[in-house]
Amino acid sequence: MKINKMGILTSGGDAPGINPCIRAAVRTALYHDVEVIGIQEGFDGLIRGEMSSLHARDVGGILQRGGTFLHTARCPEFLERKGQRQALRELNESSIDGLLVIGGDGSMRGAHVLAELGFPTIGIPASIDNDIWGTDMSLGVDTALNTIMEAVDKLRDTASSHERAFLVETMGRNCGYLALISGVICGAEIIIIPEKETPIERIAEDIEQSYERGKTHAIIIMAEGASYTCQDVANFLEEKDVGFETRVTILGHVARGGVPSAFDRILATRMGVKAAEALLQGETDVMTGLRGREIVLRPLEKVISESREVNLDFLEMARILSR
Ligand code: ADP
Ligand code: F6P
Repeated sequence: MKINKMGILTSGGDAPGINPCIRAAVRTALYHDVEVIGIQEGFDGLIRGEMSSLHARDVGGILQRGGTFLHTARCPEFLERKGQRQALRELNESSIDGLLVIGGDGSMRGAHVLAELGFPTIGIPASIDNDIWGTDMSLGVDTALNTIMEAVDKLRDTASSHERAFLVETMGRNCGYLALISGVICGAEIIIIPEKETPIERIAEDIEQSYERGKTHAIIIMAEGASYTCQDVANFLEEKDVGFETRVTILGHVARGGVPSAFDRILATRMGVKAAEALLQGETDVMTGLRGREIVLRPLEKVISESREVNLDFLEMARILSR
């Protein structure tokens, strides 16, 4: 079936790179004489019929901006059949005949639901967590890592000056990817991720040993999904008197904002073009993915049923290199 009107929405947690992706998808569709409708605030805006036409000029000046100019939301109503049917009604009433969904793993589930209900839908992975199966990198991950790296480098300056141990928490929901990679690239003494937790006593031993070896600081990077918090560890280290004073920094949403990196802009652009072209060519129920250097299409069914593993070898590598 030929697509005449393409809808586009952004859903779930935002991520740097979403704006350049919208720009690429919108201008690709317009180039092929397909009308584009921008839907506000994800599935929530879709259910409420909040949408308007997008022209080439509407997506000007967003290539270099973080966030999503279409705004995003989490929408519990869309988890239910009633909400999904309402979404379909809105799509049909506005004569949209194909949809791009940019978002995280939850949003890919939503995209799959619409595709299964027979509505041509393609997903584009965007989440700083990098927890989506089927793509080496999701949009926003590279920028988030650069933001975390810059913050931890700064914390290390003050940690060294005061001979302190810093406990730094990164986002990532249940996935340790951001903590793991930032731990390696920032030379963290210890990395704590939900996929392989270190007993708290072992952390204290390691930090005490690094103090005794003459290190002037210790950096411990923890994923937010770990079963204990940075403050729990800081309290334990203070109690055990491991040598260093401790301080806690929660980086949180800081990693979600900012100017998309060069890597994210090119990935976003390529995925936006690929998704729009694929939709216009009749593809549905797939997600764009980066495989090596190539942008490929992955079945959404598989994307939502498989889980993406982190490389646990990096833990040992970081441990050896931080000695
Ligand atoms: P993210 O896309 O960043 O992972 P969420 O997990 O909050 O964020 O998902 C975003 C939205 O996607 C949810 O608020 C909901 O509207 C929709 N969604 C998530 N899971 C499902 C599901 N199993 N079925 C249908 N829609 C879903
Ligand atoms: O999925 C992206 C993410 O930033 C997670 O890392 C984090 O757990 C969650 O979203 C935070 O959600 P909110 O923006 O609703 O606080």
